[in-house]
Amino acid sequence: MSLYLKISKIIKKALIDSSAPLDCNPGIKKSSSHQTSDYQVNGIISIAKKMNIDPHIFSKKVIKNIKKKDFYEKINIIESGLITINLNKHWLEKEIEVMFSCSRLNIYKTTKPKTIVIDYSSPNIAKEMHVGHLRSTIIGDVLARVLEFLGHKVIRANHIGDWGVQFGLLIAYLIEKKINNEKKISLNILDLIYQKAKKKYEENKNFSKKVKNYTFLLQKKDSFCMKIWKNIVNITIKYNQKIYKKLNVSLHQKDIKGESEYSDMLDPIVKDLIQKKIAIKNNGLSLIYLKEFKNRNGETMGVVIKKQDGSFLYSTIDIACLKYRCQVLKADRVVYYTDSRQEQHLKQITIIAKKAGYIPKNVLVEHHIFGMVLSKNKQPFKTRTGNNIKLLTLLDKAVKKSIKIIKEKNSNMSQTELETYAPIIGIGALKYFDLSKNRSNNYVFDWDQMLSFEGNTAPYIQYAYTRIISIIEKSKLDNSNILGEIYLKKEIEKKLVIKLLEFEETIINVSKYGKPHVMCLYLYELSSIFSSFYETCTILFSKKRKIFISRIKISLLTAKVIKKGLNLLGIKTIKKM
Ligand code: ARG
Repeated sequence: MSLYLKISKIIKKALIDSSAPLDCNPGIKKSSSHQTSDYQVNGIISIAKKMNIDPHIFSKKVIKNIKKKDFYEKINIIESGLITINLNKHWLEKEIEVMFSCSRLNIYKTTKPKTIVIDYSSPNIAKEMHVGHLRSTIIGDVLARVLEFLGHKVIRANHIGDWGVQFGLLIAYLIEKKINNEKKISLNILDLIYQKAKKKYEENKNFSKKVKNYTFLLQKKDSFCMKIWKNIVNITIKYNQKIYKKLNVSLHQKDIKGESEYSDMLDPIVKDLIQKKIAIKNNGLSLIYLKEFKNRNGETMGVVIKKQDGSFLYSTIDIACLKYRCQVLKADRVVYYTDSRQEQHLKQITIIAKKAGYIPKNVLVEHHIFGMVLSKNKQPFKTRTGNNIKLLTLLDKAVKKSIKIIKEKNSNMSQTELETYAPIIGIGALKYFDLSKNRSNNYVFDWDQMLSFEGNTAPYIQYAYTRIISIIEKSKLDNSNILGEIYLKKEIEKKLVIKLLEFEETIINVSKYGKPHVMCLYLYELSSIFSSFYETCTILFSKKRKIFISRIKISLLTAKVIKKGLNLLGIKTIKKM
């Protein structure tokens, strides 16, 4: 159980024993750094007010009713009636020993695993991934890693855009230009072909007819079209998998379940929705009016699910997909990572799927929206010519920049070390910079900041880690068998241990809201506290052996927490920097 929960439970019990309502919220909060206490009971004043009791008198009563006495050293009531708590060092020593001796750092593992589908990355086929795919890919991956670590069954869903009119375009163009060995085409050529085909489609009626025909044939699973389609899909997948590998993102080929895989469900779904009187037919269109959505003129908006020409839409596929996730995969929670432009779309399909009874009542459908990546002039981050910046270009640049920085810092690194470390540092910095920002907001892309060794950055934390590892190595102790206990002598040691004990609640918070910046901030604070500990406390040259052992144990635990924390963010650590 996390430190926060432990304290909350003890105080809640005392509150209830002092006649507070059963559902009262003690509102336990960490005291701010300039205060002398460790925690405070923020909820107490409002509970007292509701109960019509003077907060001071009530707080006294609550303190008297605390049955468990060993966890605090001091409990005070300040003027307003607020209770402040100073944790007991011996209690913390025991708690941290448990964390130290447990292979999973005493982080709870659920006994009731939930099935959670996480829809992330999900790029469209025949296009190179660009900066717009970064956030979905790496933030979604953190949630997947965190939930899996907590013991849940995570289904990674790479819902690639591999169906629809864009294939009609490509097929028509490839056939027209007699390009019949499309297997050999690289993705950037395919991307260019797509642009050209699209232009032609808009300008040339004859060509647009052909496109429609090929799209139709593909939807009917015509074998000739399917063969070309499959090749195009494979070219893209191969390319994307390389990017995921570079990014250290845990999406594999088996996690791909693209739009095309739901194609057989679409017609029956449209029929079902009509039969259930959720959808109506109008001029050959099948559509759904949702009173929840109004257009600019205040009229109820319609969601088209089947067009006159018999083709289906992005929404139809997503309704089918959600049904599949709930009914076949038996998801308890479905989380989507797409930017805010798809907010309305996802709301609509969720409402429709609910109305149709495809989503059981207790299933949570969440849309984790994220902001945009901006350039320094606060405009969307694009190339000088106004195109999207390719993700691969960004990754290569990150590695190049980190090589330069490593060479400046540590000129005696071997070429092999440089080649191993540069991607870890460069791409780690790029990922961390993004993950450290609250996903709800836009952020400004800045190479200098992300690669800085100061502040809330990956290099700062990776460097802190290498320093700790070097201390531990110098101690010559056998990490797997350190005999001796942890003693908390100085205030900074206590502060560090409290921070280590907060690792569990940090992970839980990330798992609830899918906000990795909470973990980044935690790791940054932990590394900073460690740095103060290192400056204030003698570690390797402690006069007393038991203090030496205790401090090495604390250091080792800090290193383990940093490594695990970064691992949950999909960022690697290194031993040398
Ligand atoms: N392929 C879409 C795009 O690039 C994102 C898909 C998100 N997932 C979903 N189930 N709609 O915008």
